[in-house]
Amino acid sequence: MATSDASAAESQYAAIGLDLGGSSIKYALVDSAGKLVESTFGQATTPEGAHPDAVAQVMTEIIGELQRLTGEELDGIPAGVTVPGVVIDGVVHTAANIDEAWIGLDATAMLGQLLGREVSVLNDADAAGMAEVYAGAGSQAGRPIKGSTLLLTLGTGIGSAFFRDGVLFPNVEFGHLEIDGFNAESKAAARVMREENLSWEQYIARLQRYLSHVEFLCSPDLIVIGGAISEDHEQFLPQLKLRAKLVPAEYNNAAGVLGAAHRALHSGT
Ligand code: BGC
Repeated sequence: MATSDASAAESQYAAIGLDLGGSSIKYALVDSAGKLVESTFGQATTPEGAHPDAVAQVMTEIIGELQRLTGEELDGIPAGVTVPGVVIDGVVHTAANIDEAWIGLDATAMLGQLLGREVSVLNDADAAGMAEVYAGAGSQAGRPIKGSTLLLTLGTGIGSAFFRDGVLFPNVEFGHLEIDGFNAESKAAARVMREENLSWEQYIARLQRYLSHVEFLCSPDLIVIGGAISEDHEQFLPQLKLRAKLVPAEYNNAAGVLGAAHRALHSGT
């Protein structure tokens, strides 16, 4: 068992990924190549209301759990954290499905202090998009596919990440487009299908309306659909009619964690 003086340099672990979602906080360690160490992947319940203090507390417990699991202190290993809102230079600017106390919070500073390490904070869909575009459904032979790629996560809300030739244009908020007088995610997020007990046919009609509008706005070549619902992609993707190629995400559950860890490995902010 490694001891507390095992430095980050000796460890096989290079970064921690923490993905804050509406129902769970997913986490894992990645190695220096940015690959997920599968045995460390796990989920903790998101505290009711997702207040930043409560979330930070759960993240502290998660790091304790990772320390126990690996037998390492994980000192000096940076963490990447996703937040379901607009994040600019580590400051959270919106909070559609989390506590409003996040708005204006310098999450990088707050979490950095509490977690005792360098922390990078980014939007959850941007993180998932990075995982897919760098090494998943938006990539080919380990490189981002050329052209415009849009990742959409269908979950509690609708997350969006837009890339041109593999370069991220951060914080596009296509989940909040106003379509037919409604905030799009209030009609077409996967949560709505459950809450309104929609049939696939009804939900597909809503998705078609939404995706056609998004396609009109940014003309992507490729649309990657993520979120837990993408595991059922055979039920709905083939029925959607778009110009763009439409594919399911490759990483599902782990995309946000991977993208967050990638940001921690490669940026420091
Ligand atoms: C938020 C986005 C987020 C998405 C998915 C939306 O309500 O505004 O920032 O990416 O939900 O969590």
